[in-house]
Amino acid sequence: MFRIVRKEVLQPSVILYEIEAPLIAKKAQPGQFIILRVDENGERIPITIHDYDSIKGTVTIIVQTIGATTLKLSMLNEGDCLHNFVGPLGKATETEGRKKVAVVGGGVGCAIAYPVLKKFHDDGAEVHAIIGFRSKDLLILEDKFKAASNHLVVCTDDGSYGRKGLVTEALKELIDAGHQYDEVFAIGPMVMMKFVSLTTQPYGIPTTVSMSPIMIDGTGMCGGCRLSVGGETKFACVDGPDFDGHKVDWNIAVKRNQMYAEFEKHKYEEVCNLLNKEVR
Ligand code: FES
Repeated sequence: MFRIVRKEVLQPSVILYEIEAPLIAKKAQPGQFIILRVDENGERIPITIHDYDSIKGTVTIIVQTIGATTLKLSMLNEGDCLHNFVGPLGKATETEGRKKVAVVGGGVGCAIAYPVLKKFHDDGAEVHAIIGFRSKDLLILEDKFKAASNHLVVCTDDGSYGRKGLVTEALKELIDAGHQYDEVFAIGPMVMMKFVSLTTQPYGIPTTVSMSPIMIDGTGMCGGCRLSVGGETKFACVDGPDFDGHKVDWNIAVKRNQMYAEFEKHKYEEVCNLLNKEVR
């Protein structure tokens, strides 16, 4: 069984879980994901790994409570166990050989951006981080980003903290100021990743996006994470989650993501009603 050794509420609907999973902790790499089941009747959901500690034998995930399963997960406490916790799955993010990179994270996507940023940093690259949130009260992981980057820009949509505006504006300013990035890595809402890719394309900066937000069961069987990349059909959970942002067909990806979000919202509301819980 996979015991929750630490549960920390980062924001009312964003929770960190550190799970005892020594075999996964030994092999995990940035960009990879796990599949968990809360109980034996539960659905399988893929969650990208936030951190891992091979000595403690733990894997940390950060989960936004937005669906039926994540709601059930949020009701577990330290000492409780998950029914399944399988991984690491998916291809690890390539980080070697880069001299200077920019990592862009949006909202809870910062949970996934962090291990990639740290690996770039540990591999000797100069790392610029740009993280964006709707407002100050949704900010997470600022200290961790500060510790593992050479330059950090925090953006909020409403200007309640850091710089007011979009991460793409901050990224463009850094590029226009003369910073020559070997690569830009982006993870966050689908629309954000689309516009990061559109921002870097005219400059010819290789851009990697993590398509984990469109994964549904992570098994390669549901077809939910099907994408068109460079005219070829790909599956985020099998061929990714990382892809060349300049080759992704964003119209298909954004539409698929919206469909899934609607479906999850509906299921979440049903479970809230069943449990008599307030819908956030
Ligand atoms: Fe179901 Fe990839 S998440 S096929």
